[in-house]
Amino acid sequence: MYAICELNQIPNRRAASFVLARQHDDGQARPWLIFVVRWGKHVLGYENNCPHEGVPLDWERGQFLDGEGLRIQCGKHGALFDLGTGECVAGPCLGRGLTPVQLIVDDEGDICVTGVVLAEDDDFDSGCGVE
Ligand code: FES
Repeated sequence: MYAICELNQIPNRRAASFVLARQHDDGQARPWLIFVVRWGKHVLGYENNCPHEGVPLDWERGQFLDGEGLRIQCGKHGALFDLGTGECVAGPCLGRGLTPVQLIVDDEGDICVTGVVLAEDDDFDSGCGVE
């Protein structure tokens, strides 16, 4: 379990991006781009990778939500994704979905990534990407 950010660093109903280093089975560490949406005391995490063209969703850093703040929107061609499931509900990747990231908020109020092995690597940018 890896703490990546304090819950309170992400404003309610906003999202933040992170560049982490994930350790793979072949022993290599590679950049792992994820984002976290905060909804009150709850958080939702997905890989920052649009299933349409495999590019990051936030063409403006930290901008992941549509104008109403109710769905995730890709900045490139505007695909919309359900906030809770990551499923594409409109746009060119209809029927496909974002890859979920397991998160928990611990007793200290830190957002933590679980279910993966992360590498310590100073070459990768990290930290709370809220603009
Ligand atoms: S790259 Fe995301 S909708 Fe096309």
